Amino acid sequence: MSVSTLPKEAIADPRVFTDPAALHSLLARIRQEDPLTFIEAEDYAPFWLVSRHSDILEVERQATQFINAPRQVLLPLSYEAKARAASGGVETAAIMRNLILMDGDEHKAYRQITQSYFTPKGLEGVTADINQLAAEFIGRMDQAEGEIDFAEVAMAFPLRVVMSMLGVPPQDEPMMLRLTQQTLSSQDPEFQKEGGARAAMMEMYAYFQTIITDLRAAPDGSLASVIANARVDGEFLPDRDVFGYFNIIATAGHDTTSYALTTGMLAFLQNPEQLERLRADPAMMPLAVEEVLRWTTPVKHFCRTAVADCMLAGKEVKAGDLLLLSFPSGSFDEAIYEDPYRFRIDRRPNRHLAFGTGPHVCLGQYLARQELTSFFRELLDRIEYVELAGAPRFVEGSFVGGVKCLPVRYRRL
Ligand code: HEM
Repeated sequence: MSVSTLPKEAIADPRVFTDPAALHSLLARIRQEDPLTFIEAEDYAPFWLVSRHSDILEVERQATQFINAPRQVLLPLSYEAKARAASGGVETAAIMRNLILMDGDEHKAYRQITQSYFTPKGLEGVTADINQLAAEFIGRMDQAEGEIDFAEVAMAFPLRVVMSMLGVPPQDEPMMLRLTQQTLSSQDPEFQKEGGARAAMMEMYAYFQTIITDLRAAPDGSLASVIANARVDGEFLPDRDVFGYFNIIATAGHDTTSYALTTGMLAFLQNPEQLERLRADPAMMPLAVEEVLRWTTPVKHFCRTAVADCMLAGKEVKAGDLLLLSFPSGSFDEAIYEDPYRFRIDRRPNRHLAFGTGPHVCLGQYLARQELTSFFRELLDRIEYVELAGAPRFVEGSFVGGVKCLPVRYRRL
């Protein structure tokens, strides 16, 4: 790794995430020199950067001391002010609330609504559908002339998986793709919408209202129906919470998985012997999927707020202080990983932080693993040879990201 010359404040800059080598060299330096460092970057709320694997675990486990309210994501203050003004001063929580901004018993009760659906057992009912969708989307490579932007295939597949679970028909997906990108990767100039992420959220809100009304009139046992008809303390959830649930599954379940696929594919292209090893020994798939998750860590951070004064990593953290959990930093921490900058599909153990940990650990982690497994298995079954055919491009954004453009050349089997 080259020695980073970037100042630590650069970690708040969305552009750093377009250059993984620069990002990781900055994070490695921070882990070594000052692993819990206080950062005051222009146009951002000041925060503690939690960079070590062990400290991220500690913060996430102490969920009553470090809570998710009121700030979950670090965005430029000017961007937030603009978005607030565009929505007439209405706060996002008035439009939708989701699991990520809840804490304690309320979070537990809301998570319980879909928890069993997302367990490996609960997902058995959709595995065949996921395999079939993977075949359909990799099948798109049959029609192309041996060259394609692999991101097009990898973006479309997880979108269809979550949209089918939410009852959205295929013809409405291009709109949903645009809205989820505008909601999640809203710092990237290519994905921006007038009025910001909030305007995209309002558009999605109107759309899901119809689905919710239909499913309350005729419940059908699907995930969408479970959410639409959920009750807490005997009452239907308020509209903003039902919408919040739909919204979080639509957004959290799609871009994240897509970026794991595109960025994982790039890792295989840059390390072709790893792809050949997997082809020769398909039983390595579960380990390979974990290494793809570690290597890509598509969610770059979440925030927590300290409830009371406390000591953390030898520093005094005050009540109300903001902490930023750097998942890519945890996933490449040399205290945990031997040779962290080598992409190795036989890595074991592999306790990466791609899905976070603690009470908020990714609800869709087993679904995401299944999608990655089905997709790469199908790819190996259909494609004999694949190589990079142009420069990959990464998303500009400090929250969720990865490769957004991946030109490849390939030969079918
Ligand atoms: C590779 C793909 C994915 C990655 C890297 C990812 C990552 C994450 C991370 C880091 C968190 C926060 C964990 C924490 O605070 O400790 C999270 C939460 C969440 N994820 Fe995922 N996720 C992925 C796929 C999915 C899928 C497929 C779904 C559902 C369809 C999903 C639904 C959620 C939900 C609902 C939460 C909020 C959980 C809560 O606050 O209790 N995710 N995810």
